[in-house]
Amino acid sequence: MLILGIETSCDETAAAVVEDGVRILSNVVVSQIDIFAEYGGVIPEVAARSHLEVMMPVVDKALSDAGVTWNEIDAIAVTHAPGLLGSLLIGTLAARTLAILHDKPLYAVHHLKSHVYANWLIADNQNSVPSTRSSRPVVTGGTSLSRSSLVANGLGNTIPGCPIFPILALVVSGGHTQILWMTRHNHFEIIGTTRDDAVGECFDKVAKILGLPYPGGPSIAKAALKGDANKYKLPHPKIDGLDFSFSGLKTAVLRAVQKEAGVPISYPSHKLKELLTPEQVCDFAASFQKTAVEILLEKMQAALEEHPEAKSIVVAGGVSANELLREEAERLFCRERSGSLGQVFFPAPSLSGDNGAMVAAACYYETRSGVKPVNPYALNIYPRIEIDHD
Ligand code: KG4
Ligand code: ZN
Repeated sequence: MLILGIETSCDETAAAVVEDGVRILSNVVVSQIDIFAEYGGVIPEVAARSHLEVMMPVVDKALSDAGVTWNEIDAIAVTHAPGLLGSLLIGTLAARTLAILHDKPLYAVHHLKSHVYANWLIADNQNSVPSTRSSRPVVTGGTSLSRSSLVANGLGNTIPGCPIFPILALVVSGGHTQILWMTRHNHFEIIGTTRDDAVGECFDKVAKILGLPYPGGPSIAKAALKGDANKYKLPHPKIDGLDFSFSGLKTAVLRAVQKEAGVPISYPSHKLKELLTPEQVCDFAASFQKTAVEILLEKMQAALEEHPEAKSIVVAGGVSANELLREEAERLFCRERSGSLGQVFFPAPSLSGDNGAMVAAACYYETRSGVKPVNPYALNIYPRIEIDHD
């Protein structure tokens, strides 16, 4: 089954063609990072306008890269929730129009579901297209994980190299931080969520305080390589259960920077960066990154204690590109843990961020779970809605 996946929930315009939920035939992502680096964050109206400019060229390229015609596409999948209202509108309007025009079934996919299903994808080709806004080639293709023993795809647990149910999923992005319990495909129970900021948002805000470029996650990770992660002691939130909180960590970094710079708490935060040495910036980046990763993994350990029957851990979303998170998760859950837990899965770094392939993968498992297409004349968008399940 060939699915065209379309994703525009935030600041990436993306389309991909995926076969049977696993094999990426094309994956085109045009990022607006170069536009928003200037502002230090996403401006929703600008994001929507930018999606509008590149949406159709991105879809056309996804089809031509895959070497398929509209006749061969079996379904269209599009992100309809959650995300920026204007951004979601452009993607869904494009998908609705294409579905009507080419007479294809249309599926509406939740963004977090898509991030989780990035862990089922294998890519055997790399595609890239430069952003129309600059010469910066910020486009990702897939990866080439060696799942050569892959057998027919299905709804069971039988695909070698893929996560095995029941699964504990940690979704960490710019807008979400959640722990999900999955007993089967397309079935998600939220067992932990952030009570305030998402962890990616926290990376972005801390980067701003430190004067590091947007998006904050990769900038912090890069600066942290040269820093001392034990230089500044930052607190872990005291929250019972599996919920997270990241706003206190951001404030703790702000206060520590103010203290280090010898200024009062009323000092404008956007001017703090001028008072820090490059060494201090790297030390703060490393100390913050270490604490954020510890907080995430402490909760995952607690989740595993509540669900010792979990067979796989799956990490997904933009923050899952973080190297320290990858290394520490593997150390904690694979090397130090014996027992029934099989493996920790991360998407290929190029599939951690927003892309169309993961939308198509999620859609495939929805169709296999009996989810029906939506009416292309009436599809709605939901900027803020929790993940649902069958
Ligand atoms: O999933 P995503 O691309 O978009 C949303 O759905 O929000 O996630 C974007 C987030 C941003 O906050 C970005 O700073 C963060 O992912 N991020 C990272 C890394 N790469 C991206 N955070 C930590 N380390 C990284 N290497
Ligand atoms: Zn995302």
